[in-house]
Amino acid sequence: MDGVFYIKQQDNKLQKSPKLFIPGPTHVSETIMDVFSTKQIGHRTPEISDLISFIVKGIQNILYTKNHIYLASHAATGLWEMATKNSVKKSVLHAVNGAFSSKWALSSEQLEYDVKRIDFEWGHGIDVDKLDKELSTGKYDVFAMVHNETSTGAMSDLNAISSLLKTKYPDIIWLVDAVSSMAGVKIEVDKLGIDFILSSTQKAWGLPAGFSICAVSNRMIRRSLDIKGKGYFLDLQTYEKYYIKNQTPTTPSIPHMYGLKKVLELIDEEGLDNRWKRHNEMAGFTRNWAIEHGQKLFTHRDALSYTLTCIDNVQKWDIKKINENLLNQGFRMDRGYGKFRYKAFRIPHMGNIYMEDLKEYLNAFNELI
Ligand SMILES: Cc1ncc(COP(=O)(O)O)c(C=O)c1O
Repeated sequence: MDGVFYIKQQDNKLQKSPKLFIPGPTHVSETIMDVFSTKQIGHRTPEISDLISFIVKGIQNILYTKNHIYLASHAATGLWEMATKNSVKKSVLHAVNGAFSSKWALSSEQLEYDVKRIDFEWGHGIDVDKLDKELSTGKYDVFAMVHNETSTGAMSDLNAISSLLKTKYPDIIWLVDAVSSMAGVKIEVDKLGIDFILSSTQKAWGLPAGFSICAVSNRMIRRSLDIKGKGYFLDLQTYEKYYIKNQTPTTPSIPHMYGLKKVLELIDEEGLDNRWKRHNEMAGFTRNWAIEHGQKLFTHRDALSYTLTCIDNVQKWDIKKINENLLNQGFRMDRGYGKFRYKAFRIPHMGNIYMEDLKEYLNAFNELI
């Protein structure tokens, strides 16, 4: 076979692997896949330091930050724990407005921190007044949130949260999961004052899964110094020791690094402003498409994501059947996250998806409804 993956259909025939229209892992182009087979290099060599230095500078540029960038060869879930292990001394407040923010709170509970969940309706963003009220109790030294809730397509307002924290709670360490927004949405980390922002590579970065990225502020690195019981693997101090040499503490996934380099080059060609604009335009197009077809947006209008659109299936489309048909045409659709299956399905428009890909997909969809 020609390097393309094949899947077995119900009738046992082989078909080319479908183009992914799920909100992660997202579609990876052949151009990017190709660099994954670049020859290996040693992880304690000048070559890897050049590669890491290029990647770090590129990510700092995308995040508008001077903060240190750590590259981790595991899923983003591990960075949830890196974030809390290196910051929580007293108590952590978790904003919960969907499945991933809930899981992050669970991770903190299982680490036996003093955890409080502040709940917001799923499909809504974080309500700043409610957050202010809870923070004013003075109980917390850390606030953790998900920027873009992939389960519901709700994107919270980082500017509003930043100004609340800066004006009233400057000592609180701010942790942000940007797994499905980083590299798809403009996030000005230094201006906002985010202490720890994390993502994995399988969403708007448009790379395979299994690799993650974070940007860490100096005050968080200093704070982690006297926190005990962090272990070795996720300790910021371990990362810091290798960061200054442009290396990683453990043997990294070098293919992902080549992939990241390629994506950064592609982003540079596209231009950052064009990239943010592309994601906004695709979001607008998808929302209009849904509404024109009599559907409703599941997500509240004040929190609509730029990287995915979550559609409330009020038209009762037969998602199961549409899924089978789209699969036969070479597309893997999303059928809705967890409890929303068939009720609220998502259309991703991020990373390697361009307007022409989106139109191609929605045209195929049009034939089935
Ligand atoms: C918002 C968000 N956070 C965290 C995760 C977990 O990422 P990973 O599978 O890389 O651990 C996901 C995965 O879909 C996500 O969407």
